[in-house]
Amino acid sequence: MRRVEIFDTTLRDGEQSAGVNLHLHEKLEIAYALEQYGVDIMEAGFPASSPAEFQAVKRIAKEIRNVSVAGLARSVEKDIDQAWEALKEASNPRIHIFIATSPIHMEYKLRMKPEEVVENAVRSVRYASRFFSNIEWSAEDATRSEWDFLAKIITQVIDAGATVINIPDTVGYTQPQEYVGLIQYLKEHVPNLYRVKLSAHCHDDLGLAVANTLAAIQSGVDQIEGTINGIGERAGNASLEEIGVALKVRQDHYQVETGLRIDQTIRISKLVSKLTGMPVPPNKAVVGANAFAHESGIHQDGVLKNTLTYEIISPEMVGLSSNKLVLGKHSGSHAFREKLTELGLKLKEEDILRLFSAFKELTGKKKEITDDDILALVVENANPGQKYEFNFLQVSYGSNMIPTTTIGMTTPLGEFKQESATGKGSVESIFNAIAKLVDEKIELLDYRIQSTTGGEDSLAEVYVKAKIGSMTTSGRGVDNDVLYASAKAFADAVNRAYMKRKIDEENSETVQDKGVIAH
Ligand code: KIV
Ligand code: ZN
Repeated sequence: MRRVEIFDTTLRDGEQSAGVNLHLHEKLEIAYALEQYGVDIMEAGFPASSPAEFQAVKRIAKEIRNVSVAGLARSVEKDIDQAWEALKEASNPRIHIFIATSPIHMEYKLRMKPEEVVENAVRSVRYASRFFSNIEWSAEDATRSEWDFLAKIITQVIDAGATVINIPDTVGYTQPQEYVGLIQYLKEHVPNLYRVKLSAHCHDDLGLAVANTLAAIQSGVDQIEGTINGIGERAGNASLEEIGVALKVRQDHYQVETGLRIDQTIRISKLVSKLTGMPVPPNKAVVGANAFAHESGIHQDGVLKNTLTYEIISPEMVGLSSNKLVLGKHSGSHAFREKLTELGLKLKEEDILRLFSAFKELTGKKKEITDDDILALVVENANPGQKYEFNFLQVSYGSNMIPTTTIGMTTPLGEFKQESATGKGSVESIFNAIAKLVDEKIELLDYRIQSTTGGEDSLAEVYVKAKIGSMTTSGRGVDNDVLYASAKAFADAVNRAYMKRKIDEENSETVQDKGVIAH
């Protein structure tokens, strides 16, 4: 059977989603999970975009040995140099160079003539081939480009050394039959296309990313690109887990195979959702909470008689009912470690010990600890290092008084500080007190709260998105108490901004020292 390669871009196109701001160790956790999920290539980031991004790509390239690691680069030497610096230790490094080819992008964004774009693309691919033997080249906005121009530029970049040609539907504009038509056209009009792999990359602006990707597979592409849970710019990218399951359930129709381990689907979906703070809608195909819930009487009756009446995907297939171990207050460190392994988490010993004591504390407040609770704990406890930490939090609320918060925190430099502030509600007073304490201009862009499980002892999980100075960042907090969970989420957002600034400052010197920024 024909094998289609899976190129995951959760850590690059996915991380470009508004407000997503992952720490290095969170990116690594996702990278390990992607390796276990069986993707063939993972795009770890865009090294030239910031020193923190450079550092993350470099670390992932070093750690991940069984999957090809890719880095994005514009068609400029400086980006290619930085991509090489970041990727050179990877077991199979790939550079992903892109330039726009549609008339609107060339004229208004690049302000280049088509011939200049061709020249630039060829020059950058040639330059990259000094370092890389694995070169993916993307025609940004390919689906709104002129087909004959696309065929011409692709022919030339293949001659210059590209090994994979990607046809992105950058703005999610194309329709399945049209995309198939474009791929067929390129097969007929690019004489050297047989020498390279052809790839599809679809966005979901019209809700067609998965359909377009599946159509591309039917028209013979060798590689498809997407993200976990379909996260990404605007409406997002094609959902890899939906594609993986569709290819499995309808193998009779597609006649292709992938290296994806479908039984890891739910696990990786939950991990990405928790770490990015992007919730999965309950009705989302394959991974939504209701994807296996049969509500109507007729459906329930059918499923009880024979599950196949209404169930085309079994929960086991995607790893939903593989939760063998239920933890509680009698569970010891052995069971806890087993659970972490079962969830596919790869943690350092010191992190496991820290998590275990947080777990023990939780068992005093909650009877049954579910997988979602453990994931929430992992996310919550994932950011060690210098940061703002709570010493105390006191919130006064009454229906006839002004909500007031007093907080005491230790700063990253070890200094103790306290502040108080009021607000129109308790949450706002907490937020104002933290902003005052850290002495930053903070604009709250989003605040969301949900329970990790059902039941009155459930944990509250708070997600915030905030603009701190010029940086948009997110934060998460988990606690039995909704106000404390909110305070933790605000503090986490502040800590992320603090860490990012620190890394950018430290690394911009390192990268500049190596002379790879100044070109
Ligand atoms: O959607 C797109 O065009 C991209 C390119 C960078 C490949 O993500
Ligand atoms: Zn994209």
